[in-house]
Amino acid sequence: TGFDAAMAREKATRIFDRDAGTIEASAYVDPDIYRLELENIFRRTWLFLAHETQIRAPGDFLATYMGEDPVIVVRQKDGGVKAFLNQCRHRGMRLCRSDAGKASNFTCVYHGWVYGLGGELVGVPLEEPAYGTVDRAAWSARPVPRIARYKGLIFGCWDENVPDFTDYLGDAAFYLDILLDRSPAGTEAIGGIHKWVIPCNWKFAAEQFASDSYHALFAHLSAAAVTMPDGSYSADWGGEGFQFTSDRGHGTGFLLDAGRREMLTAFVGPEVARYAMEEGMGSAIERLGAMRGQRMHAQHMTIFPNFSFLPSVNTVRVWHPKGPNEIEVWAWNLVEADASDAVKEAYRVGGLRSFSASGIFEQEDGENWVEIQRCLQGPVARDTVFHVGMGLGRPDAADPDLPGRLGWVFSEVAARGFYTQWQRLLADPDAPVIPSADHGEANHAAQ
Ligand code: FES
Ligand code: FE
Repeated sequence: TGFDAAMAREKATRIFDRDAGTIEASAYVDPDIYRLELENIFRRTWLFLAHETQIRAPGDFLATYMGEDPVIVVRQKDGGVKAFLNQCRHRGMRLCRSDAGKASNFTCVYHGWVYGLGGELVGVPLEEPAYGTVDRAAWSARPVPRIARYKGLIFGCWDENVPDFTDYLGDAAFYLDILLDRSPAGTEAIGGIHKWVIPCNWKFAAEQFASDSYHALFAHLSAAAVTMPDGSYSADWGGEGFQFTSDRGHGTGFLLDAGRREMLTAFVGPEVARYAMEEGMGSAIERLGAMRGQRMHAQHMTIFPNFSFLPSVNTVRVWHPKGPNEIEVWAWNLVEADASDAVKEAYRVGGLRSFSASGIFEQEDGENWVEIQRCLQGPVARDTVFHVGMGLGRPDAADPDLPGRLGWVFSEVAARGFYTQWQRLLADPDAPVIPSADHGEANHAAQ
């Protein structure tokens, strides 16, 4: 059966009901919805490509994905960054089959067409006798037309008319900077990229990192029991903290004050805790203020649609969609670039132990997502409705030191913000990526 975009868009408009706080299970399995996501979200929003330190020198490259489209990200000779579709224009072969490396050019293995570091066609075997001439400009690799570099991160967008990345971030930049701006030296990606496959829909991961502190109290009890055997970690704990939601779909949640050193020690190790609470804290407070440099912790965040991170563990990841039922996780560790080698190693090992393919917290998250997806293979299970109404109708939270729209940390206001943007883009391929009016709940309720 063919893909009916109009029907899929109509489906998208009723699949999520923000006012009722419900989402239909089919959002996570329906192939038409997934196809619409690739077209209307992954082709139009800013997507994470690489960290600057992963492609330091001219010719350094990284092969990655934007949605399901393969791309190559390359450091140029002038220090700039370009990205282009990892696809030969002759007969469509994957141009570069290495994950990363250093190149002077990219030669297709099929018939030998050669592309330069910016994706421009520079050589065609037997060109003169076989073709006469091949128009170099017309047959270069398809460029990613927009590239943004923000405090060490490189993002790209297929839509050349997308708003600038900092506008796309809006108030979310304030919360993203907690990961990126603790030190004047910036950050460095260490330890390579961990890649693993999870058979689940990409939104379970992206939404959880945007909005779900709630699961940590229960899903992570067993990991916490191992790492915090004194019993101080409890499912009944209802501490002070906030959740931030953006009309662009970004979201974050975090705790304030209580137990920061204990949690860091337990989850990532004593050396990381010492660094974060002592050595590294001075410049963090100086650059970010006491709220961000000292008080906020246990933070999780998603930049819409699929770039997520945990600032205290310093793990960064992209949930690459691979069909409605599967993702490939690509995870890095980020560390302040001026931290000592011992601290960097402590972050690497602590990250491995907590959040990575072998991390005990990561596995508790992944196990839940996989089992949800398995349940969704049944026709009754996928024809049901889920609850995404926590905190609905409650007044916004507020703090003079925190910008943007806030709720309590144990709320789903950021999940609803994520799905509001998701639905808005799915339903209308021409909808601006930044809504022209505030589409948040409070505003909506006032109308
Ligand atoms: Fe690349 Fe033919 S497909 S040279
Ligand atoms: Fe978790």
